[in-house]
Amino acid sequence: MFSGIPLFPTQASTLAADVDALYLFIVAITAFFGILVTIVVIYFAVKYRTNDPMKVGARIHGSIPLELAWSIIPFLITIVIFAWASSVFFDIYRPPDQTLEIYATGKRWMWKFQHLDGQNEINELHVPAGRPVKVTFTSEDVIHSLYFPAFRVKADAIPGRYSSVWFSATKLGEFHLFCAEYCGTNHSGMVGRVVVMEPTEYEAWLTGTVRGGSLASRGEQLFGDLACNTCHLSDGRGRGPSLVNKFGSPERLANGSTVPVDEEYVRESILMPAVKLVDGYQPLMPTFQGLVSEENVMALVEYVKSLRAQSSTVSRAEASEEPAQPAATRENR
Ligand code: CUA
Repeated sequence: MFSGIPLFPTQASTLAADVDALYLFIVAITAFFGILVTIVVIYFAVKYRTNDPMKVGARIHGSIPLELAWSIIPFLITIVIFAWASSVFFDIYRPPDQTLEIYATGKRWMWKFQHLDGQNEINELHVPAGRPVKVTFTSEDVIHSLYFPAFRVKADAIPGRYSSVWFSATKLGEFHLFCAEYCGTNHSGMVGRVVVMEPTEYEAWLTGTVRGGSLASRGEQLFGDLACNTCHLSDGRGRGPSLVNKFGSPERLANGSTVPVDEEYVRESILMPAVKLVDGYQPLMPTFQGLVSEENVMALVEYVKSLRAQSSTVSRAEASEEPAQPAATRENR
């Protein structure tokens, strides 16, 4: 449509065409009425011009049909925009169930990406094409904003909170990634590239760059180093609740309310454990605010998540009375 004129970034995700269609619709509506009003103003200015400075205009007492028309027509148009935009918003906001998870942190002035298998990248992100990818991220200092123009997704990286974006890339190649929130001197240099690869190439890239263990195993290591495992016993008899099978299920709090155990809740419980105390436990846990970097918090979150995945493998193995699987052995380590 705009071939040769780079008005729009490439459409390189499943969401891109929907976002552009809505945007062009709004631009078209705005242009139509903008041009219509301009033409009418010029036409009336010419048609009703007069050379008599003493002439007074006729009195107008209003017109019900006219007023109804200019109220109802814009109302209907804005309702169409609202309904359409809500549908696009929910598509962008709600990731599919099965996504490739990637963590990221923004700090002045770089983006750090962390793959679950343990690979780290700075200002560069490798993803497979045709597969939904969810990036969960936060900031270590000020507000940044992670922006993938070709995928039409953007969200602020806010210190103290997790944000996420998801996309499914449809085109192979390299695309821009930006910080889209002014964050200081080198804000304009806080850029990078996202490399979309064939899934097989991506697998090869993953195995070719592996360093250290997976993110969850790094989290497990930290879990021991920080002595979390002295209270969070897996049999539930510790001073803190067992974390096995916790992720993804609701948790009852001491104040009687219930919260979903998601990334945000796990993060908050590490840094501010007293805020949402689990029902039946004492507020004994010290805060880890300032002691654990955001990247290490992500490793811990991923470890807590993996406790769910591994135990479900165990229970399945138990249910079918098969000999213990490698995953089950790992869980008992
Ligand atoms: Cu980070 Cu702008």
